[in-house]
Parts: sequence; C-alpha cells; structure tokens
Amino acid sequence: MKKYEKRFSSAGTRLFEPADIESIIELLSGGGIVGLPSETVYGLAADATNELAVQKIFLAKERPVTNPLIVHCSSVEQLLAYASVDHQWVYDCLAAFCPGPLSFVLPLRRPLACGVTAGLSTVAFRMPSQTTFREILLQSGLVLAAPSANRSGKPSGTSWQAVLHDLDGRMDGLVCDVACQWGLESTVIDATTDRPVLLRAGAITLEALQKIAPNAAVDTNHELAARSPGTRFRHYQPTASVVLFDRLDELPTSTSAKAFGLICASTFHFESSLRDRYHLIETFDSLDSYANKLFDFFRRADSAGVSEIHCQRVSQSGLGLAIMDRLLRASQAEQLED
Ligand code: TXA
Ligand code: MG
Repeated sequence: MKKYEKRFSSAGTRLFEPADIESIIELLSGGGIVGLPSETVYGLAADATNELAVQKIFLAKERPVTNPLIVHCSSVEQLLAYASVDHQWVYDCLAAFCPGPLSFVLPLRRPLACGVTAGLSTVAFRMPSQTTFREILLQSGLVLAAPSANRSGKPSGTSWQAVLHDLDGRMDGLVCDVACQWGLESTVIDATTDRPVLLRAGAITLEALQKIAPNAAVDTNHELAARSPGTRFRHYQPTASVVLFDRLDELPTSTSAKAFGLICASTFHFESSLRDRYHLIETFDSLDSYANKLFDFFRRADSAGVSEIHCQRVSQSGLGLAIMDRLLRASQAEQLED
C-alpha cells in the first residue's frame, strides 16, 4: 500500500513530501525533472547522465544552451568518477566546506550528458548538505544536474511555492520542503588552477576560502569570467526595476503612492512620511537575513504589482560580496544577454 496519496498541481506537476524518497528517485531515474530543495536555492534536477532529461531542464527554464549546469553528488569518490582534482587545495576545500554551498569547476574526466557542460572541457560539481537532497543522492547513487529552479533570468526560487509559480506544468515533480537556509546560490570557484578563483560569489565567502587557501582571489580577469558562461546572461531580475542606493536621504521624496518597495540593510527608525511612500518595506539586522530574504522580496514585490524596488547597497566583504553581485545584476536590465 502506498504511504502517500499521489498529489498533482493544477498544471499536472506531481507534488511530493520530503519523505517520498522512493517515488522521487523513481521519477528521476526514469528521466523526469524534479524541483528539489537545497541549502542555497531550489534546484531543478535531472539525471546528469541522461541527455533527454537534461534537455528538458533547458526547455523548462528557457535557459540558453550555452550556459552549463552544476552537477550534484554525495561524495568525493563520486565526484572523482567524473572530474579530475589536480591540486591539494581542492581536497582541503572539499574537506572544509562539503557537503555545503561551494561548487568546483574541474576538468571533465568521464562524459556526462553534453548539455550539462555546454561543450566545455570542464564541469562544475557540488555536494549539497540539505537533508532531502542529500538523501536522494545517497539512496539513488545518481549524479544530478540542477540549475536554480526559476525561469531563466528571474530571481532564484527559495521556497517550493516560488518554484511552482515559475515552473508549474514544466517539471514532472516538485518536492515541497522547507524554505532554503541561505537563499543565495552556491559560491562557484575555478578549481583547475593552483589557487581558488572566485567565478560567482555565494554563501561561502572569499574570507572563509582564504582561511583554507590563503591565495584565493576574486576573478578580475575578463577572459576567465567569459569561461563561466552564466556571468554573461541576465540574472535575478524581477519585473519591477531595481534601483540601488546608499543612504536614506538619497531616496526620492515624492513618489506615486504605493508603487515602490524598499529594502534596507539595517533596521532604521522610519519617519512615517517615508513609510507612507512604500508599499512594501523590509529591513534586516544582518547580512545573512538580507541574503536570505532578497529573492523572496523581489517575488513579493512583483506579486504586489510594485513598479520599482529601492535596495540599499552593502559593503562588498563577507556575504556582502554575493549580495552586491545579485543586486548589481538585478539592476542591470539593459546590459546582459537573455
Ligand atoms: O546553489 C547553487 O549553485 C544552485 C543549487 C540548485 O545547487 N544552482 C545554481 O545553478 O545556481 P545555476 O545553473 O543557476 O548556476 C550555475 C552557474 C552558472 O553561472 C554557470 O555558468 C556556472 O555555474 N557553471 C556551470 N558549469 C560551469 C563550468 N564548467 N565552467 C564555468 N562555470 C560553470
Ligand atoms: Mg540560476
């Protein structure tokens, strides 16, 4: 007898409880694509060795085929079956941060579905720590390709409700689990060289990497940036325009009522005249909570029909580097490819 009743969304996506592990694995093993919770953002997962399943991810997200996917595994041994590790610092970082929100770009050793690597000779791997995702990997023995579970260019989904909003009927299944711990994507590092080079800032900070590999650096070389194709495309953009500011006195004094949303990096005492000008206001007492609620705020602002979101800049250290990366990309509507 089945423990759980089958549930479907109105557009035909199968909805799972985290405990439905066997059925989730059955769907993934058969070539299905499934929205899975991770500690960073929700992922849209497929068997990374199944070409058709991987193509379904690109179709569902309307993702450019030149943008490669991150592959998720449960152990260093599994990673080594597909990728080469040529530097001791990579093992040190694997030991220090994994399972966790750090992705390694490594030389590809054994082919995966070609869509995964977008024709590159490297592959990005990470080991998620989120309980359900990890259990699926451990019990299935699969390696799962999973980009963030959102329409391409839009803010990443950090709750199952956000994923259903973007991809209902476009994915075979969705695991309805808790909201994500970090709310921001993993840090991506180039691990093909003698030191970590940060290709995408994320939940593991540069400072944390430097404790393990002191010469870790941000990628300032444009050639390298071009090697991480995701950096060329539109990302994280809500329908509302995103405008950045430093100080509260820079904010417009008269606005069309309720058209705006405001995110502040610290808790302020707001004068009521300011409060009245905004439909939604969110203030944060830490960078962790700013990072955690940013994409959710963008989505709430879009649902509320807000036309402009004012976001406070933060200093680019610690998690602030990743927050500023997302804010800058969200505000650059004109400059990136679709
Ligand atoms: O936290 C995360 O990393 C989430 C969860 C689901 O794991 N996934 C995620 O995937 O953010 P996605 O597809 O949204 O971002 C993957 C990033 C892109 O910027 C892509 O260009 C880069 O990783 N990437 C993937 N493979 C690469 C490679 N071989 N070389 C350079 N960059 C690569
Ligand atoms: Mg993404």
